[in-house]
Amino acid sequence: MWETDLQKLARDHHLRELSVMASPSGPLMSVKGQSTLLFASNNYLGLANHPLLKQAAQKAIEQFGVGAGASRLISGNLLPHHDLELALAQFTHTEAALTFSSGYATNLGVIPRLAKTDGIIFADRLCHASLIDACRLSRATLRVFHHNDVDHLQSLLTKRPLKRPILFITEGVFSMNGDLPPLPELARLAEEFEAILLVDDAHGTGVMGPTGRGTIEHFGVESANIHHMGTLSKALGVSGGFMTGTKDFIAYLINTSRSFIYSTAPPPAMAAAAQMAIQVIQQEPERRARLWQNRELMYQGLIAMGCHMTKTESPILPIIVNDPSLALEMSHGLQKHGIYIPAIRPPTVPKGTSRLRVTVMSEHSIEQIGAALEAIQQVGQSLKIF
Ligand SMILES: Cc1ncc(COP(=O)(O)O)c(C=O)c1O
Repeated sequence: MWETDLQKLARDHHLRELSVMASPSGPLMSVKGQSTLLFASNNYLGLANHPLLKQAAQKAIEQFGVGAGASRLISGNLLPHHDLELALAQFTHTEAALTFSSGYATNLGVIPRLAKTDGIIFADRLCHASLIDACRLSRATLRVFHHNDVDHLQSLLTKRPLKRPILFITEGVFSMNGDLPPLPELARLAEEFEAILLVDDAHGTGVMGPTGRGTIEHFGVESANIHHMGTLSKALGVSGGFMTGTKDFIAYLINTSRSFIYSTAPPPAMAAAAQMAIQVIQQEPERRARLWQNRELMYQGLIAMGCHMTKTESPILPIIVNDPSLALEMSHGLQKHGIYIPAIRPPTVPKGTSRLRVTVMSEHSIEQIGAALEAIQQVGQSLKIF
């Protein structure tokens, strides 16, 4: 039964396979026994293998063991979970925070609570799969607006059924495009239509804003009707997701959010490492500075060689190739040069927009970025991509 589906995926060049990485996440990794330069990680600040995070996790294992033993509401709410949430609330300048075992579980648990079954959700067309799945789970009416198109959203709003709660959903940094939403305009519309605006800042947490608080800080649009979701799994280098808000809102989630209530608490070592990540982000701002310098170096190099890029404003630098087989060929060609950049194809991105999603980290050296640019140029030209 699934054989036919697999054959079709292979025919369309959409079949995906796992690569085994035999070293810690970082600029240089071992792939198939070959030392490879990685430009495909969300570990933007290099924290996944940071000595202080590892120490914090090891200490928590000694004190609290490897598993929480139960869900948070039963007996799994260990001290590291509690301390992490206090640190997250302080870091994001909100009253309270709640963590989940993943960013995916955060969206699944939060959106049905924000939307209400009689509500109407307006989501950006490029929203992440976890947001779309959560919208479906909520059973609210879902309307999709063109990517970052406030005029389209406004025209959909004028046709909406009246007197139904409204939720807008966007991403802080779009995960496959690297571009940012028009957050000030969305915030203004949310106020005008008395809507809640949810910003999934999975890729903005630790990366965007003068102090790394995220895209809401970047735009300076903090307000009571904007809800900030973030992850511990990308720039923070660990695993998990979080939601922030007032104490009442967090108490409401603790009582109603199904992916929070009916799931074992994350390992205490993860919480301890994530709390240390927040500390490191604040104490080592030079990591964010290096990330942005590397981003500029890579971006200018890609533009100079004539790559077709998205309107990216972040360390996510997608080269649009369109054809999935060409994207695959380019990725394989780069691997032969010791550069790892996977081809991103449908359904992760819309049909006809296959791409190489290049991401940089603070820990890349100038020489490593130079080597990647040289290989991209050689492989891209040999395939007549630019
Ligand atoms: C925008 C966005 N939201 C949510 C998630 C899910 O986060 P996690 O990987 O922590 O489950 C991702 C991860 O890919 C993402 O890119």
